[in-house]
Amino acid sequence: MSGPVERVDIGRASLYRGNALDVLTQIGAVDTILTDPVWPNCPTGLIAGSDDPPRLWQETMRVMRIPTRLVVVLRGDSDPRFLAPVPTALPFFRLIHLPYTIPAFVGRKLGRDEIAYWFGDPIRPARGRNLVPSRAPAAQPADTRTNGHPCSRALKHFDWLVEWTSDAGETILDPFMGSGTTGVAAMRLGRRFIGIEIDPKWFDLACRQIDAAERQGVLFDGTPTPVRSSRAKRAAAATASLPLTLL
Ligand SMILES: C[S@@+](CC[C@H](N)C(=O)[O-])C[C@H]1O[C@@H](n2cnc3c(N)ncnc32)[C@H](O)[C@@H]1O
Repeated sequence: MSGPVERVDIGRASLYRGNALDVLTQIGAVDTILTDPVWPNCPTGLIAGSDDPPRLWQETMRVMRIPTRLVVVLRGDSDPRFLAPVPTALPFFRLIHLPYTIPAFVGRKLGRDEIAYWFGDPIRPARGRNLVPSRAPAAQPADTRTNGHPCSRALKHFDWLVEWTSDAGETILDPFMGSGTTGVAAMRLGRRFIGIEIDPKWFDLACRQIDAAERQGVLFDGTPTPVRSSRAKRAAAATASLPLTLL
């Protein structure tokens, strides 16, 4: 399904329809790769690449230029050893839990939450961003947009991931952009975005979603999210001068 590469530019986004393994060789290093790849236990035939996800991931790691940071989202029941091909030039930094308000079960496993695995450098320390959280806010099941893509992710989680895994104005790359959730979040948060999708149907959907988000404009300019409770304010004040570290 790779076919010729098509490029569509929408404001701060450059979107490529084609095989990530081809397109990545033509793209320079970016600040953050934030992606939700074809996961190891993906049912065969559900989406492109599901015939051999480990090989697709291994090849992706081989051909990509090393970014400043790599953040990979997998469902909580995906075997993280899938990530073994991540280059040693990107040391593990931390994992982040992406919960949902209403748990669901997968076979005997309760909870369909996702995990973001973060490799490489942290973001720059700044007021309100000295401590990198280990947990994103819980998403409602309805936050996962029903746009026709079989595995589109919760925009609430991706807004949060873009906010915490990149700095304002930086470039985020998603080589497996699907319906474009990462790109929509990047537009909403004032980042540049490069997206790649092999399936023309999902590529067209991503173009439409990212175009709508770009037209809506930047919703959040990179100023830290205000801390509301007085207890949280005291904690933020106490840690404001600490070096960037793990929470
Ligand atoms: C897990 S889905 C990503 C879903 C996305 N995060 C969203 O919210 O819609 C992975 C996507 O990778 C695409 N894909 C599979 N193999 C690919 C390849 N070699 N190059 C580019 N895209 C590919 C699939 O078509 C699928 O849409």
